[in-house]
Amino acid sequence: MSNERPIGFIDSGVGGLTVVKEAMRQLPNEEILYLGDTARCPYGPRPAEQVIEFTWQMTRFLLKKNIKMLVIACNTATAVALDEIKKNVDIPVIGVIQPGSRAALKASDTGRVGIIGTIGTVKSGSYKHELQEKAPDTHVSSLACPKFVPIVESNQFNSSVAKKIVSQTLAPLKKEKLDTLILGCTHYPLLRPIIQNVIGQQVTLIDSGAETVNDVSTLLDYFNLNNYEQTDTKARNFYTTGSPKMFKDIASEWLNITNLNVEHIELGGK
Ligand code: DGL
Repeated sequence: MSNERPIGFIDSGVGGLTVVKEAMRQLPNEEILYLGDTARCPYGPRPAEQVIEFTWQMTRFLLKKNIKMLVIACNTATAVALDEIKKNVDIPVIGVIQPGSRAALKASDTGRVGIIGTIGTVKSGSYKHELQEKAPDTHVSSLACPKFVPIVESNQFNSSVAKKIVSQTLAPLKKEKLDTLILGCTHYPLLRPIIQNVIGQQVTLIDSGAETVNDVSTLLDYFNLNNYEQTDTKARNFYTTGSPKMFKDIASEWLNITNLNVEHIELGGK
C-alpha cells in the first residue's frame, strides 16, 4: 500500500476545513482530498437516514480516488454514519465525536461540560453518551444552534449579524456554569472568537475537529501509513457540490492558500 495516497476528508460544506487546517499544520507531508457537499448543506436538520445516504455518496466518491484513510470531518455525519461506514470499508475511518469528548474530559475540572452542535448531532445524544460513558458524573448541557452553519457558509462569520445571532443563541448556556464547551460542529471554529467572547474567557473551548487530527496522526503511525515524502499545495484538492467560487473564497482565507484547486462535482439528488 502506497503511503503517498491522500487522506480523504468529508463534510456537508466548508466546516471540515477546520480539520484540514489542523491536519496541514500537524501533518504537512500528507496529501489531502476534501469533499464538501455544499449543495445539500446543512445536514443538521435532515433525517438520519438521509445523512447516512449522503455520507455514503461522499465516501464512495473519495474511495474511487484511492484514499488511504477517511476522516468524517462532520459531527452530524459522524453521529449517524460512522459505525456503519467503519464496518463496511477497508481503510481506517475516523469521526470527530470521540476525540472531542476525550479532549473535553481532559480539559474540564468541574465536570460541567457544554456541547453545541447541529439539531442532528444534539438529537443523536452522541456527545452526552461518549462523555458519560467514560465519566458518568459529567454534567452535560447540550444546545442546538441551527443558525450558525448558514452564517459560516455565506462567509459572514466575522459580521455584526454573526455576533448578534451567537449572543442570542448561547444565552441559555450562560447560566450553566460550564468550564468547558465543545464546538460540536466543524463549522463553529470559524465563529470561535465570537463564541469565546459571548460565553466568557473562563470557559475552555474544545475544537472537536482539530482534536481529531491527533487521532489521525496516531492511526497513521499504527497502520504504518505516514507519507515521508515532501508534498506541495498541489497535492491538496478540494471538491464541492456547490459553487466553487464561494468555497474558494472561504477556504483560501481560512487555510491561507492563494492558488487553491477547487472543482465542482455532482453527487446525486437533493
Ligand atoms: N459541519 C457539520 C457538523 O460538524 C455539519 C453542519 C451542517 O451541515 O448542518 O456537524
